[in-house]
Amino acid sequence: MGIFAIVNQKGGSAKTTTAVNLCASLAVMKKKVLLIDLDPQGSATKWLGHSNDRKELFNVFTCNESIKINVLNTCIKGFNVIPSSSWLIGVDKALASELGAETILRKSLSKEKSHWDFVFIDCPPSMGILSLNALVVADKVLVPLETRIMALDGLAQLLKTLETVKERLNPKLEMGGILPCRVDKSTRLSLDILEDLKKRFKGKVYKTVIRETVKLAECPSFGVPINIYDKKKPRSRRF
Ligand SMILES: Nc1ncnc2c1ncn2[C@@H]1O[C@H](COP(=O)(O)OP(=O)(O)OP(=O)(O)O)[C@@H](O)[C@H]1O
Ligand SMILES: [Mg+2]
Repeated sequence: MGIFAIVNQKGGSAKTTTAVNLCASLAVMKKKVLLIDLDPQGSATKWLGHSNDRKELFNVFTCNESIKINVLNTCIKGFNVIPSSSWLIGVDKALASELGAETILRKSLSKEKSHWDFVFIDCPPSMGILSLNALVVADKVLVPLETRIMALDGLAQLLKTLETVKERLNPKLEMGGILPCRVDKSTRLSLDILEDLKKRFKGKVYKTVIRETVKLAECPSFGVPINIYDKKKPRSRRF
């Protein structure tokens, strides 16, 4: 059993793509997997065929409701999702004066987490109370990163934030790794950024990288993960 927070405060860094496809891959390997969509945009929720109009997840944070009533199925057996709520946009404001607000998800999940082998949390592109809740409950952090120019900006700051959370709020938190995404091996720039990343964040970057491929960009519109949309080719590669 492990809880993974998928975090990067930079928008469009492939957090949701990583979260949905990792869960789907583990589920076809007969693992029981839960994805918690903590992003008010609800990209993972909509991709998996649900609406983010429901208020339940907001109520978990503001009224201490159980996450249990909010667990939905997906198109893959063994893969559950807790859908996002567009109401979550207001959660920072609603919890501004709440003592220990960053521990709400940990408490809510503590009784339920044993139902799954893996729990993944898709975080929003900001380091507010929602992402903090994910980091407080997580065992490991996974940081997807676009191998594009300027993508490395903010990464050092993010790693510092993770250290601070580990020191002050969650001593068991470990850095899983930085996952290079959208790697285009046909461009020098993409490979240069990958090299730079490995030099600057030695030992923290996964050897396996996710290639730039139109199939990965297409599959959300078809409401299915990549392992159903395109069964043929691997999207990852080791460098
Ligand atoms: N390997 C890939 N190849 C091609 N397109 C990709 C790949 N990975 C992600 N994308 C596309 O990049 C865009 C951003 O990806 P995604 O939504 O997963 O990022 P995100 O970090 O969750 O964004 P946000 O910060 O807004 O939540 C999407 O349109 C997605 O389809
Ligand atoms: Mg996202």
